[in-house]
Amino acid sequence: MIHEKNLVFTLHTAWTTYIFRVNETNHLEQLYYGRRIGTTDHMEPLYDKHTISVGNSVSYDEEHPSLTLDNICLEYSSYGKGDFREPPILFSRQNGDRIADFHYKEHRIIKGKPRSFSGLPESYGDKNQCMTLIVVLKERVSALRLELSYTTFDQANVIVRKASLTNDMGETIILQRFSSLQLDLPTSDYSLVTFDGAWARERYRTAQRLRSGIHVNDSKTGVSSSRHNPCLFLTTNEDNDNQGDCYGCNLIYSGDHAQHIETTPYGKVRLLTGLNPATFSWQLHPGEKFHTPEAILTFSHEGLNGTSRNFHRFINSHIVRGSWKYHQRPIVVNNWEATYFNFSEHALLKLARKAADLGAELFVLDDGWFGSREDDTTSLGDWTVNTKKLPDGLASLSKKIHGMGLLFGLWCEPEMVSRKSQLYREHPEWLVSVPGRNPSPGRNQYLLDLTREDVRDYLFESLSNIWKLANVDYVKWDMNRMFSDMYSNSEKFQQEEFNHRYMLGLYSLLQRFVEAFPQLLFESCASGGNRFDLGMLCYMPQTWTSDNTDALSRVYIQEGTSYGYPLSSMGAHVSESPNHQTLRVSNLESRFNVAAFGLLGYEMDLSQLSTQENEVIRNQIAFYKVHRSLLQYGEFFRFKTIADNNQAIWVVSAPDRTEMLALFFQTLNIPNPPTDILRIPIADPDLTYAVTPRRERIDLKSFGTLVNMVSPIRIKNDGNLQRLVDETVHLENELEYYIVNGDVLAYRGIVLNQQFGGTGYDKETRVLGDFGSRIYHLKALKG
Ligand code: DGJ
Repeated sequence: MIHEKNLVFTLHTAWTTYIFRVNETNHLEQLYYGRRIGTTDHMEPLYDKHTISVGNSVSYDEEHPSLTLDNICLEYSSYGKGDFREPPILFSRQNGDRIADFHYKEHRIIKGKPRSFSGLPESYGDKNQCMTLIVVLKERVSALRLELSYTTFDQANVIVRKASLTNDMGETIILQRFSSLQLDLPTSDYSLVTFDGAWARERYRTAQRLRSGIHVNDSKTGVSSSRHNPCLFLTTNEDNDNQGDCYGCNLIYSGDHAQHIETTPYGKVRLLTGLNPATFSWQLHPGEKFHTPEAILTFSHEGLNGTSRNFHRFINSHIVRGSWKYHQRPIVVNNWEATYFNFSEHALLKLARKAADLGAELFVLDDGWFGSREDDTTSLGDWTVNTKKLPDGLASLSKKIHGMGLLFGLWCEPEMVSRKSQLYREHPEWLVSVPGRNPSPGRNQYLLDLTREDVRDYLFESLSNIWKLANVDYVKWDMNRMFSDMYSNSEKFQQEEFNHRYMLGLYSLLQRFVEAFPQLLFESCASGGNRFDLGMLCYMPQTWTSDNTDALSRVYIQEGTSYGYPLSSMGAHVSESPNHQTLRVSNLESRFNVAAFGLLGYEMDLSQLSTQENEVIRNQIAFYKVHRSLLQYGEFFRFKTIADNNQAIWVVSAPDRTEMLALFFQTLNIPNPPTDILRIPIADPDLTYAVTPRRERIDLKSFGTLVNMVSPIRIKNDGNLQRLVDETVHLENELEYYIVNGDVLAYRGIVLNQQFGGTGYDKETRVLGDFGSRIYHLKALKG
């Protein structure tokens, strides 16, 4: 709901209100963003009061000597007129004038959300779900028109913002910075929460109190990156995800981005987000219009859990589109960590048969099926089958896999070229490199110039052919290096525009693919989660969260990711132990428990499983299928975070709280440990719940030689006898079952059984060990 009265604009969503006005100098003054308030005509209490000019500050003009733009919350600030904070826009004119001073001109309010056709990914919603306000501002001296767009998504409590600049002058200007969004807040008593990392440790949560100065959260890698995700939060309570006033912000873009968070000398905060000015520059010619990517904003007075929930709902309803929207995602078996490049059709079929037998639904053939690819040094760009490994071809393989009742998926890495490839021999000019410089490799490969239409056409044709031929149901779209040597060999190319033009090229290719293959399930990937962002999610409903599949690492990674993105977007696979990325040993049940809080898959050699492991996995898959819609689309909460504790407690809940699943995970086993309490603050006080842990198998080997305390014959570690006993003795996890009132569960929590502490064991003892976990099922009793 949006309305305007006396040039005061009020934007309501179900639980939030956002207000700004046109002030006495015709600038837009931000007045309020927070918890929903009633509509009021009394706005004066919210105005920033300036009656006396201050020290060395700059007044806006002679008519307003006490008004300095530097100390007002503004919607979209100017440059060079006294506001000394980070400017949202910077450009230069031919005469050297760099001043930007935008004034209100007019506005319109529209039901729904008009498309901008900017070539960028956009959120969407219908007339019943959203409303849009467009405010037009005009630069005081030059004929530049700035349009600020605000779309309110009522139920998701999200405001989508973007900006566009039209050059109505007869001269070209150079745009050096153009933010999607500026948010000025009147106070700075916040912690900044960002999601930082690197390859294989993506999106670890970082929280820090705001201090004077500017914090920059950005990527200059060409992709949104695992270094600093564009999603961030400002919260008044970084210690409890369920409490506090919290603002969230994210960007619908997959390339270089920057978020500036400035704490001003007057104790205000400015947040800017958008294209990264460090790598962006654009010539805006007469008559042209430039659109920023969209940015999304949310607020919740229920802390980080509240803002996460808003984002999750928004992404599932207004970012993800196509036939897989709100559709249950299949359980994957991927051959990568099982075989790497070393596979034959026989080996793949063996793996697929096992996958089908255990209940999996989609078999994915990963890297190595094309060209003459035996390792990562060759063949990228040659999208034809590797007949050495697959002499009968992909169509035959796919048919056999479909015949087992499985879907068939295929890996590809379209944006890359190997120098050892047919494609490079034919088109060296398609490789991104600067004439006269040796291009720098990354994973032995180079970027293809996606700014070029002929490159995009080639990729569309060659990949479409193979996907049709192999009748694929799923595509994993990988991207395994960051940018370097940014330069296009096309004629008359503005080289400083390369990074953004690359993204526009990528998006136009993706759009073509999703239109041509509307039923395909796409999963985006960039060496794991190096491009986990809202831009990619507009085309591909799920993302491979990380190359790191170790259970403990995944708790950090999935927890960090969950702040901005729903479980339905996170690929999560059970893999071998010791883990291939960390060499950490963790038990199979715990690896599943973590992967179940995401889109479940297996990425291990299933043909080597023991009889017991077969049964364990069969039961895991059956459990996931029963609870899949809750695990993929339930409301998600973090009640204890691994980032701050030795334990994590995550919950997915049905919206009416009648059913929930809780993950309890611990890092290291503590001897003689404190009591564990399972407290679920969102439980409905009026309901009564039955609570029980998922049936799991305890690995007898985890007791080591302690079994000799009860065994009539001596059992040695790793001996044949231990293996035999492990195969035949079926030991289940603790017996624990509660009937508990919702108020007790919410206000006090269940005191769980004792953990194993070194002094004995019975059938009630919870044996978790290092990196151990349980999933608790909570179901409301009828009546
Ligand atoms: C990186 C991906 O993240 C992996 O899952 C795998 O697909 C490899 N690339 C294949 O090269």
